[in-house]
Amino acid sequence: MGALYSIFRDTLPGSTAHYLNLKLADWSTPFTPSKDLETEVCGINFPSPIGAAAGLDRNGDFLDPLFRCGFGFVEVGSVTASTERKQGQKTEKIDYQNKKCIQENVDEKRGILWIVQKLRQNAKGPRGANIMPSNETITALPSICDDEFIYCIDEIYPFVDYFTLNLAANRVNKLQLYRKESKYRDLFRRAVRERDMLIGLQVAAKTGLDVEIPYRSRSLIPPIFVKIDNEGFEAKNFVNVCKEEGIDGIILSGTNEKGEGGEILAEQAINKLKEFYQYTKGDIALISSGGIMNGQEALKRLKAGASLVQIYSAVNLEGTQIVGKITQELENALKTEGYQSIKEVIGKAFK
Ligand SMILES: Cc1cc2nc3c(=O)[nH]c(=O)nc-3n(C[C@H](O)[C@H](O)[C@H](O)COP(=O)(O)O)c2cc1C
Repeated sequence: MGALYSIFRDTLPGSTAHYLNLKLADWSTPFTPSKDLETEVCGINFPSPIGAAAGLDRNGDFLDPLFRCGFGFVEVGSVTASTERKQGQKTEKIDYQNKKCIQENVDEKRGILWIVQKLRQNAKGPRGANIMPSNETITALPSICDDEFIYCIDEIYPFVDYFTLNLAANRVNKLQLYRKESKYRDLFRRAVRERDMLIGLQVAAKTGLDVEIPYRSRSLIPPIFVKIDNEGFEAKNFVNVCKEEGIDGIILSGTNEKGEGGEILAEQAINKLKEFYQYTKGDIALISSGGIMNGQEALKRLKAGASLVQIYSAVNLEGTQIVGKITQELENALKTEGYQSIKEVIGKAFK
C-alpha cells in the first residue's frame, strides 16, 4: 500500500494524493496502539497520545481510516460556519524531497452542517472539532468572527469530545486579528460561557425540562483547546489569559507563516513548547504539533511538556502506515527508558 501511495504522491496534485492516501487506508491492515499508551487528558481517555492534526480530515470524511491506521484521536476541520470552496485551486503541495507539506490556498471547506451530519453518523473517537471563521468573514466583517466561532460550537456541541478554537494564522489563514489580547480574551470568555450554557441545557433536558437541544452523544463535558502559531503570542501573557478564562488546552503550533508543515518546524515547535510549559506547569494541557516524523520526536515532545501530540505532514509524506510505525517507536522508546505510563513522561525534561 505504501508503494502505491508513493506513486500517487509523486505524480498527482497534493490534494488528490491526500484524498487517495486516506481512502487507501480503508484497505490497510489495522493498527491498534498498545494499552501501555493509554492516557487521560482533560477527562478524555485517549488510546494513544498521537493524534491526527487538523487539516487531515477537514470535512469529517475520514474518521474510519484515520482510526484504522492507529491514531489515538482525530481533530476534524478546520471547519467554518458555511461552505468555503475554491474549486480548481491548488490547496496543498507535498514536497517529498524537502520533507514538507505546504498549504497553498484556503482548503475546500464544506461547512459546519456537513461535518455535523458526518459526525452524527459515526461515533468513533475521541474526536475534536477545529473551528475558525472563514476568510471571507475575516476580511469583510471581522466584527462577527466571534459569532462564527460560537455558531460552530452550538452546532457541533453534541458530537465532539473537545473543541479547538483555531487562531493559528499564516499567509493563507488570515487569523492575525486574534493576536490582540482583548480580541482573544473576549473570544475565550464567550466560548467557555457558551459551552457551559450548553451543559446547563443538557442537564435541564435530562431532568425533564422541554429545552431544544439534542442530548450529547458523548459522555463528558467537552474541554476547549486553542491552537496558535509560533509567531504572534507571548507565552506568559497568553497562558495567563487562558487560565483566567478557563481554556483547557493549547495546541502549539500550526504551520509556519509560509503555510509549511514538516521536519523544518521541529526545532521551533519544541522550543515554543518548553517556553509555554514553564508557565502552564501542567495546569493547562499542551498539545504539540509541528515536525513530528518519528516516535523519538514524539517522546521528546512529551518530555518537553506535551500531554498529547498531533501529526499532519508525516502522513502525507510517507503514507498512513507511518502512524503505526511512529506509535510502535514511541512504545519501544518508553520501554527502553523504563517508563510505565505516558503520565510519567510528561514534562520530564524539567524534572
Ligand atoms: C496542507 C495543510 C493544511 C492544513 N490545514 C489545517 C487546518 O485546516 N486547520 C489547522 O488548524 N491546521 C491545519 N494545518 C496545520 C497542521 O494541523 C499542523 O499543525 C502543521 O502542519 C504542523 O504539523 P506537521 O509538521 O506534522 O505537519 C494544515 C497544514 C498543512 C500542511
